[in-house]
Amino acid sequence: MCGIVGYVGDKEAVPLLVEGLKRLEYRGYDSAGVAIIAPRGTICEKVVGKVDALEEALDGKKFKSHLGIAHTRWATHGEPSLENAHPHLDCKGEIAVVHNGIIENYTALRELLQRQGHKFTTQTDTEVLAHLIESNYKGDLLEAVRLALVQVEGTYGLGVISKRHPGEIVVARNGSPLVIGKGLGEHFVASDVAAIRRHTNQVVYLEDGEVALVTDQDIQVQTIDKVAVTPEVQEITWDLSLIEKDGFPHFMLKEIFEQSTTLDNTLRGRLDYDNGTARLDGLAKYMERLRNAQRVVITACGTSWHSALIGEYLLEEFARVPVEVEYASEFRYRNPVVDDRTVVFVISQSGETADTLAAMREAKLRGAVALGICNVVGSTIARETDAGVYIHAGPEIGVASTKAFTSQTMVLALITLLLGRMRTISVIKGREMVTAIQKVPEQVAEILKLDDQIKEIGRKYYRSNNYLYLGRGCNFPVALEGALKLKEISYVHAEGYPAAEMKHGPIALIDENMPVVFIAIRDSVYEKVLHNIEEVRARHGRVIVIASQGDKKIKEKADHVIYVPETMEFLTPLLTVVPLQLLAYHIAVLRGCPIDQPRNLAKSVTVE
Ligand code: G6P
Repeated sequence: MCGIVGYVGDKEAVPLLVEGLKRLEYRGYDSAGVAIIAPRGTICEKVVGKVDALEEALDGKKFKSHLGIAHTRWATHGEPSLENAHPHLDCKGEIAVVHNGIIENYTALRELLQRQGHKFTTQTDTEVLAHLIESNYKGDLLEAVRLALVQVEGTYGLGVISKRHPGEIVVARNGSPLVIGKGLGEHFVASDVAAIRRHTNQVVYLEDGEVALVTDQDIQVQTIDKVAVTPEVQEITWDLSLIEKDGFPHFMLKEIFEQSTTLDNTLRGRLDYDNGTARLDGLAKYMERLRNAQRVVITACGTSWHSALIGEYLLEEFARVPVEVEYASEFRYRNPVVDDRTVVFVISQSGETADTLAAMREAKLRGAVALGICNVVGSTIARETDAGVYIHAGPEIGVASTKAFTSQTMVLALITLLLGRMRTISVIKGREMVTAIQKVPEQVAEILKLDDQIKEIGRKYYRSNNYLYLGRGCNFPVALEGALKLKEISYVHAEGYPAAEMKHGPIALIDENMPVVFIAIRDSVYEKVLHNIEEVRARHGRVIVIASQGDKKIKEKADHVIYVPETMEFLTPLLTVVPLQLLAYHIAVLRGCPIDQPRNLAKSVTVE
């Protein structure tokens, strides 16, 4: 959730660090800072607020520095303030530290260091690291960091510099990503490749429990127990344009519009028409476990959890396997009934969400096979699951997830097809499903043409402060997702509900000021949803309906109708969610909200 950038080389460090931080702004943060080694020593500048303010604070100062670290902070311990912003310094102001994650034993360490005479100036857990490194320092920065980390319990992605080592950055990782970018006579450090992709496509991912010394010429990696590791250089294959706005006013809108392409990418090479099934090579080793699974558990957070709920409807319907969906944060602290006949799917766009990661580890501990559905290649969850399927949606920058959601849902549709064919459905049915799946990207492109109509609807309702989203069957999770999108970026109250459940509570809220968004496509529960629409109309609610193309009858029942193409029922969430993403986007723009970096939210929540 916080961002780290570092640079060592022959160029001026400050502009490169600031540019790197800007690339990470999408992750969400409340303060920012840099520390550099200049001829006069360690210099540290921080601001509360945006990277632009930091840039302004640094403007015009000639630092002559070729090495530095920088950070955007999202407060966990201690309020967002200048003193709590990173980097943090030791007592002498020589060592500077940036840190993502949480030091769990920081209170004990702080007391210990205070007894030794160290003076603390912040409320953060991170500050203990600066003092701990100082107390372990005997002329070797790497060794001092290593010795400090041996005493630390918790998670970290770490960058450390010191005035006494003007050519060195020491980095370390445990549960919070850290990547080193290779250049010619220069090296970059970051918590996310997006920060450094402009400069290099050659990277080394640190593993948990590793610490590295990075100079302009060299990368030396060792484990925290001092065993040397040969760094493995990997190539980033995605292009820089994927993390730029490409003429769109916001990343979120760009990503909504990318969905027909990203769904194509998710599907590429994975459909087998002849056998009426899906080809998911990543799962090849676990076919037997999948075929014989007695239960499936899907665990995730946020938007990924909504895709998991859709997966439950799909898998139970076609694979006839009992499925349970759980918030990862709940799963990890319960005593879940999971054993070696359970298959646990773990869904995470970032592959770094702390709760999801912990839930995955718990599932593995209990003997379940853990299969990942991730976007970020090489992320922790992707690496630690037994096997998995990448969604191939490309970097998602907007904090509100859109294209990752549709690609996750598509992967779940593919897994449904695969499992369904192995367990219950015929080749004929399988082929019908393959044909329908193939059409989805094109159908999404059709829906995107309705952008102007959806914007107009947004214009009518953007002043409302309460919205209700209702759907049934596999479109109930879509109602939840539509409401979440609006909440996240517009800061208005929106609730998603199963349409029929409305009469057990939310109906009390309905009056002529309340926009109610229905998903009422022609599926197995269509007639039932029509009754629910009547219930809202009878109370003068304003009705916006997502309906199936050609459904003229519904016009009489609604204030506004947004039509989506017809498809097989199990694929409808992939279509019905798109207008809801656009509606949330336009309402947020009309309300003057910042869209890509909504307040208080982070793109990837790497703390509990
Ligand atoms: C944060 C993001 C959400 C995301 C959730 C889970 O809350 O703001 O957009 O759905 O984390 O993230 P993951 O990367 O695990 O899918």
